[in-house]
Amino acid sequence: MKYLQFNNGDKIPSLGLGTWKSKPGEVYEAVREAIRIGYTHFDCAHVYGNEEEIGQAFTDAFAAGETSRDKIFVTSKLWNNRHRTEQVKPALELTLKNLQLDYLDLYLIHWPVVLKDDSMYPQTAEDLVSLQTTPLEDTWKGMIAVKETGLTKHIGVSNFSPAKIKKVEGATGVRPEMNQVESHLFHQQNELKTFCDQSGILFTAYSPLGSADRPANRIADNEPRLFDNETIKKIAEEVDASPAQVMLAWAVNRGTSVIPKSVNPERLKQNLAAADIDLSEDQMNELAKVNKDYRYIKGDFWCIEGSDYSLESLWG
Ligand code: A2P
Repeated sequence: MKYLQFNNGDKIPSLGLGTWKSKPGEVYEAVREAIRIGYTHFDCAHVYGNEEEIGQAFTDAFAAGETSRDKIFVTSKLWNNRHRTEQVKPALELTLKNLQLDYLDLYLIHWPVVLKDDSMYPQTAEDLVSLQTTPLEDTWKGMIAVKETGLTKHIGVSNFSPAKIKKVEGATGVRPEMNQVESHLFHQQNELKTFCDQSGILFTAYSPLGSADRPANRIADNEPRLFDNETIKKIAEEVDASPAQVMLAWAVNRGTSVIPKSVNPERLKQNLAAADIDLSEDQMNELAKVNKDYRYIKGDFWCIEGSDYSLESLWG
């Protein structure tokens, strides 16, 4: 396994298990199996609705002597309806209770979007709160405070542009340690990756396989399929691996962390093994050309007419 390193020397394994879309009833066994076969990095979030089951899997794996708290790296994320400074600590405490842990390795602001306290997803513009009312800087102050208490070792953001990262840093003097964003061969995010590299911010790639198990209403007609791409298939043959493994190996080889989701034992194994596949410079160059700047997770679900959010303000 390769690792990325935080500024204090702590390390995050380059490949972790994604748990978005892993259903309660499935995720317990997936996490137990992942631990048994050697996964040490788990990516969670309050909004995924499955942290209690993941917590039970951790506890049972610890009790069975399969791993221990200090051997795993656990990330979770603050949901959009708990963005006020004073809401961050109680939100993290609930996540820790659900995960049956007493600290996280990494806590992220999930989206640069604010919802009313009683809303999980916006139905109307009324459910969305303007960033003028609850600025990201206020949320970031809450994140800094929970790091100081030791409830999380590291703090960062997700779905943030460089402008938003600079804004929260400018207001507090504290730079996010991680940015987790959609990144895969069709949306390589080269500019953002360069910004993060130059700023000493680590980068985690979500939806590395294209998240084809998204809710149907979030799948665009005629969207390109990574699994159908000829270059990916060709390189898979060259390195005697599966197309999914090439997608993951590419992410690891370019120095990002990557969090494929699976609840299938065979695919869990295959995905973990991908972290150890080396691609040649020529293969990396060929894969770079596959980029289409195509987002699967468009963020349009936040951009309800009448609210302050638009695609430009979300990603800009
Ligand atoms: P499953 O959980 O049944 O394995 P992403 O990580 O981009 O969100 O993609 C997750 C989707 O990709 C899920 O539908 C998952 O299904 C599937 N998947 C995970 N690993 C592989 C693999 N190695 N080959 C093909 N599909 C995979």
